Amino acid sequence: MAPADLRSQVADSVGLVCFSTDLIDRTVLEAAPLLKVIATVAVGYDNIDVAHARSRGIVVTHTPDVLTESVADFTWGLILAITRRLAEGERLLRRGDWKGWAFDFMLGSELRGKQLGLIGSGRIGRAVADRAPAFGMRVAFNSRTANAAMATPDAPGEAMSLDRLLVTSDVISLHVPLTPETRHLIDKRALARMKRSAFLINTSRGPVIDEAALAWALQQHLIAGAALDVYEHEPAVHADLLPLENVLLVPHLASGTTETRSTMAELAIDNVIEVLAGRPALTAVP
Ligand code: DGY
Repeated sequence: MAPADLRSQVADSVGLVCFSTDLIDRTVLEAAPLLKVIATVAVGYDNIDVAHARSRGIVVTHTPDVLTESVADFTWGLILAITRRLAEGERLLRRGDWKGWAFDFMLGSELRGKQLGLIGSGRIGRAVADRAPAFGMRVAFNSRTANAAMATPDAPGEAMSLDRLLVTSDVISLHVPLTPETRHLIDKRALARMKRSAFLINTSRGPVIDEAALAWALQQHLIAGAALDVYEHEPAVHADLLPLENVLLVPHLASGTTETRSTMAELAIDNVIEVLAGRPALTAVP
């Protein structure tokens, strides 16, 4: 919905169900004097001015947990696809450039015995970590709440500083929310700290990576590859990324299964029903 339409639609609304693509800023909230609840059909809520909503007594809810396994599966799909060059191979074949099997043709990288570095150890980061033993990977993680996580018996692996994780990991996967602290967390400097043989995976939020810096690092082969589901300015993708073979680009699909999206929608609606009935929300944003 265009911002102007959204503002006029909310004028007499008590509940608002939105997606992560809807910017729910102060102007929308000010146009909605009766609003009691905002239910985003997403786990991320960086598109909503939560502080202003709270100051107005509006409850903001999201859809955690129900998409965790779906996003974790998809993250592994990206890890396997970029390390084994699936999309690159498919592009080559469709172009008609395949000349037949050859012993040393399009070799990929193995995962077994290597380190998976997770930035963020929340629900999704942990679900990604849970799958690592199946691929013979050891897990390292960096978390804003590292001390709390380290004290937890089910911590996903070895806690380390961001710098050590960048320098030692073979695959780095991002699982942090977008906040002022995580915007451009992966910048030129961070990319330059990664191994030349390492891969970067992003299923969190696009602006966590400085896309121009990533394009530069991939052009210079400072890292081996990247697989992205999210972008800084969706649906636009940085023009310098598009011609590169060492980056896999998919259109924000990580939670996109029929089962998960249906459950997300039901949870969002249930949140609205609960709040409008005067009961606590099922999954209010923290
Ligand atoms: C989420 O749930 O945050 C997904 O990225 C969909 O917006």
